[in-house]
Amino acid sequence: MAIILDEKKLLFTLLTNHSMYQMKADRYGALLHTYYGPKGIPFDYSYLITYADHGFSGNPYDAENRLYSLDVLPQEYPVYGSGDYRSTALKVRYDDGTNACELRYLRHEIQEGKYSLCGLPAVYASNDTKADTLIITLEDTRKRFYVHLYYGVMEDLDLITRAVRIENHSDNTIYLEQVLSTCVDFQHGDYDLHTFYGRHVKERTHQRVPVSHGVQSVGSTRGASSHQYNPFFLLSRPEATEDTGDCYGFSFLYSGDFLALSDKDQYNQTRILMGIHPGNFCYRLDPSESFLAPETAMAYSANGLGALSRIYHKAYRNNLCRGKYKTSRRPVLLNSWEGVYFDFDGQKLIDMAREAADIGVELFVMDDGWFGKRDLDVSGLGDWYVNETKLGCSLKELSDEIHSLGLQFGIWFEPECVNEDSNLYREHPDWALRVPGKEPVRSRDQLVLDFSREDVREYITKQMFQVLDSARIEYVKWDLNRSISDIYSALLPADRQGEVAYRYVLGLYNMLEKLITRYPDLLIEGCCGGGGRFDPGMLYYTPQIWCSDDTDAIERLTIQYGSSFGYPISTMGSHVSKCPNEQTHRNTPLETRATVAMSGTFGYELDVNKMSPEEKAVVTEQIREFKKHYDLIQNGDYYRLTNPKDNPDFHGWEFVSEDGSEALLCTVALQISPNASRRCMRLKGLCPDKIYLIDDVEYPGSALMNGGYLLPFAQEEYESFRIHIVEKR
Ligand code: DGJ
Repeated sequence: MAIILDEKKLLFTLLTNHSMYQMKADRYGALLHTYYGPKGIPFDYSYLITYADHGFSGNPYDAENRLYSLDVLPQEYPVYGSGDYRSTALKVRYDDGTNACELRYLRHEIQEGKYSLCGLPAVYASNDTKADTLIITLEDTRKRFYVHLYYGVMEDLDLITRAVRIENHSDNTIYLEQVLSTCVDFQHGDYDLHTFYGRHVKERTHQRVPVSHGVQSVGSTRGASSHQYNPFFLLSRPEATEDTGDCYGFSFLYSGDFLALSDKDQYNQTRILMGIHPGNFCYRLDPSESFLAPETAMAYSANGLGALSRIYHKAYRNNLCRGKYKTSRRPVLLNSWEGVYFDFDGQKLIDMAREAADIGVELFVMDDGWFGKRDLDVSGLGDWYVNETKLGCSLKELSDEIHSLGLQFGIWFEPECVNEDSNLYREHPDWALRVPGKEPVRSRDQLVLDFSREDVREYITKQMFQVLDSARIEYVKWDLNRSISDIYSALLPADRQGEVAYRYVLGLYNMLEKLITRYPDLLIEGCCGGGGRFDPGMLYYTPQIWCSDDTDAIERLTIQYGSSFGYPISTMGSHVSKCPNEQTHRNTPLETRATVAMSGTFGYELDVNKMSPEEKAVVTEQIREFKKHYDLIQNGDYYRLTNPKDNPDFHGWEFVSEDGSEALLCTVALQISPNASRRCMRLKGLCPDKIYLIDDVEYPGSALMNGGYLLPFAQEEYESFRIHIVEKR
């Protein structure tokens, strides 16, 4: 059992293979957080807590003396109004307008297996992963509601998950103004905060800063998790490196508004909070109703940032992603977008597909532009019927033709949005999110449909099903091309408008669930103008997400590097596109574009008909090579070898098979200078005692890791190398 309970002390210790997490309900019923870190003897760590008379830090009414204050104690789930003036996890408004609240331990329950969350994504246990659940119930001292704290202890995955359910058991309505999913109080020590910031076409740039006094936060109020900040962050000791030191990861399995913050207090304690952003949130909870706050997944590593990332890689690959393509090899695709944009007809697509089949592509994806009136991005969204006039054929005819070339066929949708210039909007203007009496914010000339409404979702679902049933379609790209605004739903009363953003995300999940249930073999790629909804919530439904609209290989180095902290390589949609690059106008060698795209789901996004025979020959070889290394790349252990910010010279990363028998070293030269010294890369993750072969030359693993490998001289700017390393048998 991974949960150890000391009944007398009400001490709860959660154990994974390498981490330990502990909390204790004290004599007043306050649930105190006592420890999170390396696994050890499940000793009572509350000895680390100091009780002292702290000026201006008040005492609960039943405290025996002034030494006890919730303003300074490490708490498991702090609530607003309890005398804790730090950032809190919960804020409730009672029907009499008051909002001061105190929570006390009521009971607990331990269950075998991992809890699941109705309508929300959650990490799940599989046959070979042990999991247990602890539910601790707190009650407010005014006896109105319960707070059920869920803990999933995934021993082998080294992951602890958390979720919260609030249940109103009184006869009065309460309003939840803030329900965060996770709080962890670190009493001692200094920390660095690692967050992932960016913008459209520049997502998930890694930033490391010291945790300073006060609040440092990232988040989204854009309705989607956003390009700007990612719902994954980590905390490390200042001395921690890629390979050494204490690190903690916090990942939020939710695709909407989020808040993640550190709050360093007057006594140098660091509080971490993560959950739904309270900005657009207020949930009315009527008698006997309950509210579910989404899951967070926490991990600890004693061996640096790399090992922490690998915990998430494994867990998300095997215990979050679902469906056929969790394990089956995903097809190498050609996407039409950057090749032809809206300028195509059926014949042009077939011509592209024919060439694609010739070079070894396995799936042809028709991106935006095939439906309604859609020759530009200003009209047509919402009208999900095939524009046969534009295609010059039916979807079935097109799909059959593409299949006859030996390819699978995929198609693009943007189900959540509508153009004002569309039949759908003309018929149902009230289906778009908009605030009465105010003109809505337009973005890319489109509005967002009210996915909190079942009737709206049902209509779009029916349209999508009709299209998907009309032809053989093996892949769907699910896009969203704007931030969500004007969050008001016509069907909800005034005091439920604060629920719309949350209900929207639930609606999105509900629709995705319907899609994967009806089409279990469909490969769905998530997308939000690139990586604006690149989060673990989406991965529960779509095992891969288009990483960024920036396809420039050099820009992608930073984007994919940042993404790799919290997400496996197998989830990162990544394509080779033409040069000069559409976003940066930069030229990079075709091989380098492949090196970078191969460190993702791998595909092409260009007009194959415009490639020279020499280029086609190179691409054919790239696809062959990717297929050969597929398992190593997608399921192997991933090692970051350099940080692009600190290393302007060259960038490197590596994949190692689980048994250490082979590896793939990838490097890109970022600068080229004459008469340069030879670059040397120290490898990671190999077996020190094994003998490896690189181009028939023998090296012990220890030499490659301690001494390093001498990289070939780069002959041109941005030249890359893919170096295969195999154990000598
Ligand atoms: C944004 C996506 O990220 C692109 O790949 C493409 O699908 C366009 N939308 C189409 O409008």
